[in-house]
Amino acid sequence: MTTPNSTIRSVVLGIGSYLPEKIVTNDDLAKIVDTSDEWIRERSGIHQRHIAADGELTSDLALHAAKRALADAGIDAQEIDLIVLATSTPDNTFPATATKVQAALGINHGAAFDVQAVCSGFVFAMTTADALIKCGQAQKALVIGAETFSRILDWKDRATCVLFGDGAGAVVLGAEQGQGTNDDRGILASKLRSDGRHYDKLFVDGGVSSTQTVGYLRMQGPEVFKHAVKNISSVVLETLEIADMPISQVNWFVPHQANKRILDGAAKKLKLTPEQVVVTVDKHGNTSAASVPLALDVAVKDGRIKKDDVVLLEAMGGGFTWGAVLLRW
Ligand code: ACO
Repeated sequence: MTTPNSTIRSVVLGIGSYLPEKIVTNDDLAKIVDTSDEWIRERSGIHQRHIAADGELTSDLALHAAKRALADAGIDAQEIDLIVLATSTPDNTFPATATKVQAALGINHGAAFDVQAVCSGFVFAMTTADALIKCGQAQKALVIGAETFSRILDWKDRATCVLFGDGAGAVVLGAEQGQGTNDDRGILASKLRSDGRHYDKLFVDGGVSSTQTVGYLRMQGPEVFKHAVKNISSVVLETLEIADMPISQVNWFVPHQANKRILDGAAKKLKLTPEQVVVTVDKHGNTSAASVPLALDVAVKDGRIKKDDVVLLEAMGGGFTWGAVLLRW
């Protein structure tokens, strides 16, 4: 439900992203595991992915993306009073990678912390930043999704190592007075979900408390697939219902880039046209929390997403976690 009262909206002021230089093609992977370009393209839609260089950390990727988002917004880093960084591949177990980015930007006021919701991380981080902006804790926030998933892949497991990549994306959110209607720019509604009964369907088999090792990503791919389309469609519809907006008013669908077949399935179920769906999984692979802001940046920079367009973000990931954010650009 929208309210007739004037209200604070979290408006996107700028966006930026960063991909590591090194590109690894499907043919490159076929040299190290028993796979083929044809299998990977057919089952996932992925053609290539970017992989971080030795010594290039999640915070480095995040910092590049953050600087580009700040430049795009045309604001100085000192105006930022909140950094929420979504990652499952932090530089260290603690402190939060967000604090490293904060220091690198020369900011020592406000707050910076990480959010961990795997592939749904950016949607969770946007919703968290929006809530903190709405309650007056922050005026301008950097929301970042950054991952070096290459560090938690078992490069001997063909069922998982071909699907993921590294990268980062960031937006600057600013508090603006709205009217409380769907004509406002900024975040109009969001919905977060999780169901821990599916913990072991997509997880890392190591951890601080359990094994004192980092571990490798393990996934029951077909099981994840089965839940993905259903969960994504239902959370998108719930989010639209919160905003009281018909799906016909949505201009752009920017889904988490896990698998082209999941994107197509969700779009079809939601009756969105293929032209409305932003797809980057072919070039980036699944970059987990970075995938939504990376895809958003591509569609903004190539001129598809314009000011005042209605944009729907969604993601699903390990946990399971899933969620959607509806915003007017
Ligand atoms: N190359 C060649 N063959 C392979 C490869 C590979 N890289 N990986 C698996 N295979 C084989 C399997 O061993 C199996 O062989 P078998 O029939 O002889 O046993 C066969 O291919 C089929 O395997 P499936 O796992 O059933 O293949 P499926 O069509 O389900 O595709 C995939 C697998 C791509 C992982 C799919 O299930 C998927 O995308 N699931 C969603 C997972 C996902 O996207 N997770 C990301 C995070 S969660 C999220 O964001 C939604």
